[in-house]
Amino acid sequence: MKKKVLILSGGISKERLISLDTGNQVAKELKKNGYKIKISEPNNRLEKNIKNFKPSVIFNALHGQFGEDGHIQSILEKFKIPYTHSGVIASSIAMDKEISKKIFIKNKLNTPKFFTYSYDLNKSNLIRKINKTFKFPVVIKPLNEGSSVHVYICNKKNIIKNLNLIKNYKKVMIEQFIGGREIQVAIMGNYKLGAIELKPKRKFYDYEAKYNSKAKTEHIIPVNLPKKKLNEVMKMAYKAHKVIGCDGITRSDFKFFDGKFYLLEINTQPGMTKLSLVPEIAAYKGITFLKLIEWMLKDASKKK
Ligand SMILES: Nc1ncnc2c1ncn2[C@@H]1O[C@H](COP(=O)(O)OP(=O)(O)O)[C@@H](O)[C@H]1O
Ligand SMILES: [Mg+2]
Repeated sequence: MKKKVLILSGGISKERLISLDTGNQVAKELKKNGYKIKISEPNNRLEKNIKNFKPSVIFNALHGQFGEDGHIQSILEKFKIPYTHSGVIASSIAMDKEISKKIFIKNKLNTPKFFTYSYDLNKSNLIRKINKTFKFPVVIKPLNEGSSVHVYICNKKNIIKNLNLIKNYKKVMIEQFIGGREIQVAIMGNYKLGAIELKPKRKFYDYEAKYNSKAKTEHIIPVNLPKKKLNEVMKMAYKAHKVIGCDGITRSDFKFFDGKFYLLEINTQPGMTKLSLVPEIAAYKGITFLKLIEWMLKDASKKK
């Protein structure tokens, strides 16, 4: 008998719409193939939905805050029903760019230089500190968002203005800007699934470049790199997945400049629409969308 799958999607993060898209597409694919599906928001009806539907596994299609950062995972633990992707601790570490970068550095995974900025530091001291640590341009970003939400590339002239745009976060990351190519790698449990290169037509791989087909970001697979280099970046992604303690599928984002890879972050809940990057990498490896989802469901069930 085919499994009963509860799909969690929507949520309260800035990536709500992408999550709904992921949820609907996963639901459609599974329904078409005989699975019993219930879609639920992670709200106060979730418990009732789980009790009534009695799923054998939960597919977590949430992204961003509350869905990708250990919160919903800790709630799901209580139901003793297997759920996809990483557990509580790995999710919360990966979602925090400051903590995960510290772990990358400890494990000799190359990542752009950075410091965090709390808004109480005097602005002229800040510029002095930036000048001492980096060369402009720099990148500023929240510690715990995704989809390039509030990521800004800044020069000396606009950094204060940009910092003011995101002062609600109280603490943000300032990172050395790394030029060059954008490469992302998918890991599937113990298997290095593959890599893809993104060539945005926009200034960088921002929200529009990620989700608006009119922005025409070019997806390049296979990535044009010597085998040795490709192995190097795949190994880095695998190591990141392992040192953070991730499960299931992850996608790590890299810049490649002057022969060196820079790990920007690891995503524990990468987009899973048919047009998302992980399904695209999987398809290149001959793994259909359905097979990929089925692997995730089986892998989740193995853990419990
Ligand atoms: N240090 C950096 N140098 C150059 N580009 C960067 C840097 N940090 C982020 N970016 C650009 O912003 C995008 C989103 O940044 P990322 O750190 O992956 O955050 P998110 O969680 O929002 O995806 C990257 O894919 C890249 O295009
Ligand atoms: Mg990213």
